[in-house]
Amino acid sequence: MDTPPKKMNIRPAQEHEAEALSALALQAKAHWGYSADTIESWREDLSISGDTIASRPTFVATVGDGIAGFYSLAPSTQSWKLDHLWVLPQLMDRGIGRALVAHALETAVRGGASCVTVDADPNAESFYLACGAERCGEVPAPISGQPKRVRPQLTFRFDMQIVLATIDDASAILELQKLAYHAEAILYNDWSIPPLTQTLAELRAEFADWKILKASCGNRIVGSVRAIERKGICSIARLMVHPKDQRQGIGGRLMQTIESLFPKAAKFELFTGDKSEGNIRLYERLGYCSSRTERLSANVSLVFFEKPGPRAL
Ligand SMILES: CC(C)(COP(=O)(O)OP(=O)(O)OC[C@H]1O[C@@H](n2cnc3c(N)ncnc32)[C@H](O)[C@@H]1OP(=O)(O)O)[C@@H](O)C(=O)NCCC(=O)NCCS
Repeated sequence: MDTPPKKMNIRPAQEHEAEALSALALQAKAHWGYSADTIESWREDLSISGDTIASRPTFVATVGDGIAGFYSLAPSTQSWKLDHLWVLPQLMDRGIGRALVAHALETAVRGGASCVTVDADPNAESFYLACGAERCGEVPAPISGQPKRVRPQLTFRFDMQIVLATIDDASAILELQKLAYHAEAILYNDWSIPPLTQTLAELRAEFADWKILKASCGNRIVGSVRAIERKGICSIARLMVHPKDQRQGIGGRLMQTIESLFPKAAKFELFTGDKSEGNIRLYERLGYCSSRTERLSANVSLVFFEKPGPRAL
């Protein structure tokens, strides 16, 4: 993607620009190739009124004297909504959309938002994901000729923090562990896997020599991972994310953060069950290669993964 045009500027929209902005939204939406009838049926949703411009944070990007795009936010107590984000088709792919998103997120953070949600057009999903949004779901949105069309529901979160857990977090982490590994127990038809049988005393004892991370949203722990370094080998274990919060990149972020805590490791290693295809994909994406397999029980075989640590590079 190109950098924004040099003369681009972002300024508050003015009430009298409502008609021009509504026309721009229609033009940008039509760019995805929807039929004229479909675009017409969305005319009201795509319009923005002078009242909205006056009452909600609405900003335009200008290039020279012309309007190149705009956004409008619907504020609320915690979760704000990005109601409009449009760029003129002839000025797309020049970084204007990204600049508007960055401006919108900053506006929302300053206003006290803990997240910004987007009810997105399916064609715009990859753009929002590239800007750092997470996909939290989808709603059916069939149109003529596309009965399976859905609108992705995306969220920019500002409130997720990854920090070292303390022993006071032990019982919350153990509860999360039992919940997260439930799916693994079902997959292997084995309810005696160590994450499910670990006791609170055992987990509390691990705080002595393991580094244990927690990912939290507000005061809710949504994920965790732990690691220990012995003789230059950093073993990573118990990567977990609350089932409701999975597939939003939290597992990947936990892995990157835990690795960063071991700058002297010559090697990182971890294992997962051979049927846990999602876990295997995640580790491979993070640069891990399988090194060996080990049969644990009749139902479970473990696949060991490793990757060079910073000291080996
Ligand atoms: C393994 C586990 C920790 C992964 O956590 P996670 O937060 O879902 O991981 P990520 O979101 O980083 O990645 C998982 C998938 O979500 C996708 N994803 C990430 N961000 C996304 C987003 N914003 N929108 C849609 N999908 C997204 C990833 O691409 C990946 O997809 P894939 O399965 O098709 O490869 C979680 O599934 C878990 O707790 N499982 C149970 C315990 C367990 O098995 N732990 C591992 C022991 S070895």
